[in-house]
Amino acid sequence: MASTPSRTATGVRVRVPAKINLVLKVGAPRPDGYHPLATVYQAVSVYDEVHAAWADPDEFDVVVSGEGADLVPLDDSNLAIRAAKLLARTYAPNDSLGARLSIKKSIPVAGGLAGGSANGAAALLACAFLWDLDVSADGMRELAAELGSDVPFALLGGTAVGSGRGEDVAPALAQGTYHWVLAYGFHGLSTAAVYRRFDELSPNAAPPEVPADLMNALRSGDPKLLARALSNDLEPAALDLQPRLGTVLQTGLEYGALGALVSGSGPTCAFLVDDESAAIDLSVSLSAEGVCRAVRRATGPVTGARVIS
Ligand code: C5P
Repeated sequence: MASTPSRTATGVRVRVPAKINLVLKVGAPRPDGYHPLATVYQAVSVYDEVHAAWADPDEFDVVVSGEGADLVPLDDSNLAIRAAKLLARTYAPNDSLGARLSIKKSIPVAGGLAGGSANGAAALLACAFLWDLDVSADGMRELAAELGSDVPFALLGGTAVGSGRGEDVAPALAQGTYHWVLAYGFHGLSTAAVYRRFDELSPNAAPPEVPADLMNALRSGDPKLLARALSNDLEPAALDLQPRLGTVLQTGLEYGALGALVSGSGPTCAFLVDDESAAIDLSVSLSAEGVCRAVRRATGPVTGARVIS
């Protein structure tokens, strides 16, 4: 990894995007409990920032501010802390490194936008630069996959096909910029709980494959084609756990969205629209209807985790 910062660097700041799943096909659980996935991720312009600074040897701590900060654990279950410790253990086991992490959140917690995974990816990158470690891109990807299924994509960004349990990512051929409106839910959803409900609702899930119409739509750059190809196998499970999400999706479509789906395990609903002015109109309408907690506009694809200072 190219690195310039040294021990004199006061800190490293990384910006990392949210993701939505344009398609999410889910198979029956594997022996390890994870579900085989065929998905297409797109990174969108809602960002968290993670700042890493030197701390005393073997000291790791985290503070969190912004969207949903009070819902983020500050102990060793925090993905940013786990990422920093995993990196130190793997690449500098004899150095007694430490890090003080600070997370500024805009991505909602437990929202189906991979906010926690984004924080893990950002902490990996920030600490690798802070500590001036020699980690290859493959090495980073391996640690990311160990941290969680969505973490490798948060490093990569753009539009990418995900397979395995989601951790195996490859850039997809995609044209154009897409305009999204995101409706945040009043309450989060546990990813594990949504997968459990999926198993109950779909006991005979077929091996997952990315549909050709979605890849063709991405190559065309036409949002109307993409809108028709959006789909999410977890949507029925998310709607079953939070029935009001059906109203949110319906409301967005009635107000002119080209397409609508629950993002990942939800509860965020993502609406694809034609252009920026359509996004503004839809945001205003959804806010006025009061069907969701908050509405954000975003564009995609955007780049993955990047050092910004
Ligand atoms: O990989 P990650 O830790 O982000 O996954 C969170 C939870 O989501 C897992 O513990 C598992 O219950 C579920 N999951 C799954 N199949 C996947 C990805 C996640 O069952 N492919």
